[in-house]
Order: sequence, then structure tokens, then C-alpha cells
Amino acid sequence: MNRTTKIGIRLGLLASVGAAVSGIASAQDGLTYSRDIAPILQEKCVSCHNPEGIGPMPLMNYQQVRPFAFLIKDRTSKRIMPPWHVDTGIGIQDFKNDASLGDDQIAKISAWVDAGAPEGDPADMPPPLELPSGGDWQLAEQLGPPDVIVRSRPYDVIANGQDQWWEPRVEFTGLDKERWLRAAEFKPSYPLGKKVVHHGHAVLIPEGEQRSVGLARYGVGKSWEVYPEGTGMRVPPNGIIAWNLHYFPIGAEAPQDVVEVGLWFYPDGVTPELETVGEALFRVDGLNGMARGQDIVIPPHGYQVLQGTHVLDGPAIIHSYRPHLHMRGKVMTMEAIYPDGRREVLSQVNKYDHNWQIAYIYDDHAKPLLPTGTVLQFTSVFDNTANNPINPDPEQWVVFGRRGVDEMSHAWVGITYVNEEEFAQALARRRAQQETLSLDDGQALTQSGNR
Ligand code: HEC
Repeated sequence: MNRTTKIGIRLGLLASVGAAVSGIASAQDGLTYSRDIAPILQEKCVSCHNPEGIGPMPLMNYQQVRPFAFLIKDRTSKRIMPPWHVDTGIGIQDFKNDASLGDDQIAKISAWVDAGAPEGDPADMPPPLELPSGGDWQLAEQLGPPDVIVRSRPYDVIANGQDQWWEPRVEFTGLDKERWLRAAEFKPSYPLGKKVVHHGHAVLIPEGEQRSVGLARYGVGKSWEVYPEGTGMRVPPNGIIAWNLHYFPIGAEAPQDVVEVGLWFYPDGVTPELETVGEALFRVDGLNGMARGQDIVIPPHGYQVLQGTHVLDGPAIIHSYRPHLHMRGKVMTMEAIYPDGRREVLSQVNKYDHNWQIAYIYDDHAKPLLPTGTVLQFTSVFDNTANNPINPDPEQWVVFGRRGVDEMSHAWVGITYVNEEEFAQALARRRAQQETLSLDDGQALTQSGNR
């Protein structure tokens, strides 16, 4: 038992691995808010459920939590809260940004609610959290202030109406020479911008070059990206930033809204080993080269399944997975078909919710390492029936479009293409890691895409 727990910690495996064996029962008796529940809410809920956060109500003290006890039990036991929509039954489970509750934490919350949600002794409360203000850069604590900040041009968001798009082009003159990007954060204005910016991105088009550099991509649940150590994106000194901002009116005007993107670079003169393209778009809606969305035609009260395949013409390392569907989207699976024919589901989002755009960021030891010739296959499932709780109208035929009531089907995949030598090195490092682990564990790990 100890051994499982120890490996669980070393690997960063889900707490549930340990919990399954280390008696949940021991702590069930006499559970109190102050001693047992408050620490869980602080760890997994309060970052959103605070007066300035995006959660609808604060959950910071007993008075705030008590009226919601039943709803909290309901949402946590159904794994609706915290928002984390990846299938925990298949695919890689080790993520840097895992927000989910462990089975033991869910069990504790349920047992506490069933016991009448007692407060216990306030002296048992953990010290209050120091929450960063919603106006701060989230990455500042880890990385300090950004090296460069770029801004969109102001836009007046109307109070009521349909989706709006704002696509200003702004000159980029932030650097005196080419630099390597280490991290980027997309920050809507605060507090109103956070409510009206549905999603957006800022793409740099370098002067006199044929490529585009995705500086930052945003959706509720995803606002920053830190590339793995030794990996960076090449950013030219000059160019044009093409902003693509999708606003959704919320009943209050948001005048002169400006979005900022903060950029953190590797120190001057430092060249990271690997160059990444950041998040790349993989279509699941028809053949590349044909019109986008050509395959999306969802009948009223019906379903549709779409598949898109992409052959990797060089080896690649995958850092993150972020499916993008709209209101009828339910599932998107990312599967690898290796050159030897083996298939492996890397990740599956099976509780997709259009209100959230979560990037699932793999732990370093679990990032898929994919050899040349691997086929990445994506499968999307749409549900246009009345069973889909956010379906605005099951009577409609649904086709491709930018509005939330139309559909889309693609994945943003954080990917670094490497050469064969770099790939062989990454593979050797992974094997060495796994050998150490399997010596401890008595069995090899099977979750990492290569074994
Ligand atoms: C990333 C931000 C975030 C985190 C973390 C989060 N919530 Fe939420 N929560 C929200 C938002 C936004 C809503 C309302 C929209 C929705 O339901 O998706 C919500 C809704 C809820 C509701 C339903 C409220 C209602 O009136 O319908 C409950 C209950 C809840 N959260 C509890 C929790 C608990 C308990 C945790 C931690 C275990 C948690 N949430 C973690 C953002 C969050």
C-alpha cells in the first residue's frame, strides 16, 4: 500500500490511485467543514468561487458554503464541478493542470453533506488563501511580470444582442531582435472583459515571412501557456498582430474593451533545444484543402460522428490537447495509430461543454512521443437531441459556423515537431524513466504512448 502511494506521488498520478487503497473510511466519522472540507474547497474551488472569480457564488467560509451543501454534493459527485471534462476511464491521466477532485475528496464531501454538513470547530480552519486579483497576470507569481505586453484596439461591446467579432490588426514592434517565447498569457480587461470575451487569439504575422506565430489563444478555462523547459517559439522583432476576438454580450455594456497579451521570453542569447509551433489546429470537419466544415450536417433530433486523420510526416511530441466544438458537441477523442498498427487512445473528452475551453496539459513524463508516420485520428460526436441540456433547439438542422448555435469540429494540439535524433533522445529518456518506475512497481506503465 505504501509503495503505491509513494509511486503515486513521484509520478504525479491522480490522488485516486492512492485513495483506492489507503482507507477512505478512516476519516469518514465526524467530518467537519472546518477541518475536512474547507481545505478541499480551498484547493479545488475557491480560485473561481470567490467574490471576484468567475464562479457564480463564493465558497470561502461556512456561511457561504452551507446553503449550497446539497448542490455541491450533486455537482461534485457527478463530476460537473470542478470543470474537467476529460474521460478519466481511458487515455493518459497525468496532467500538469489537473483540476479534478480525487475519489477520496468526492467521497468526503458526500459523507459530510449526508451527515448534515456540520461546521465543527472554526479553530480547525486552514489559514485563508491569498487570492491573486482577477486583474493580475496569473503567470506573474511563477514567472514575474511579462517582458512585453501587446494590446488590442478598444472595442465597444453592446449590452444585448448576438455574438460579435472584433479583428483589429496592430503593429508589433515589441522586440529589437528575434527572441524565443517561453510563455504567454491572454488577459481580457478586468472585471467586465472577463465576462464578455468568449474566446480569442492573437497571431503574429512576421514581416517578410510566410509563417504565422500563434502568440496566445484563449477560452474560458484556458488563458495561458508555458512551454516545457527547453522548448520555445521563435518570435520575430517586427510584424503585424492579427487579433481575433469573439465577444458575447452579457446584458451590460462594456465600453472601450481592450485585451492584453503578456509575453515571457527566454533570456537574451539563450536558444532552447526544441522549437515548438505551439497549439496547432487539427481539423475534424472535412478534408484539408476543401472548405472548412464541409462535413458537418447534423439532423434535427439526431447525432453525427465525424472523423479526421492526420499523418505525421516527422516525429512529434505532444504537450496538450484542447478540443473545440460548439453546443451540440459531446465527445472528441484523440487516438494514435502507430506505424506498426498499434492503436492507443491518447485522450478523450467525453463531457464536452461549450462554455469551457480547457487545455489538458500533459505531465512531462506522460507526453505522447509519436514516431514518423503515426496517424493522429480525431473523432467528434454531436448530440442534437433534447437530451443535450445545452441544445438551444433540437428542431434545427445544424451546419458549420462561427456562432455558438452553429457547429465546429477541430482540436488545438500543443505540438513540437522534432528531428529523428531529438526523437531518439526523448524516447531513450522516457524508457530510462519507465525502467526506474517499473523496478519500483513491478510492472511497466502503459499510459505514455511508447513502451
Ligand atoms: C474554473 C473555475 C471553477 C472551479 C475551479 C470550480 N467552479 Fe463551480 N462553477 C464555476 C462556474 C463558472 C459555474 C457556473 C457555470 C457552470 O455551471 O458551468 C459554477 C457552478 C457551480 C455550481 C452550481 C451553482 C448553481 O447555482 O447552479 C456549484 C454547486 C459549484 N460550481 C461548486 C463548485 C465546487 C464545489 C468546486 C470545487 C470542488 C467548484 N465549483 C470549482 C466555476 C468553477
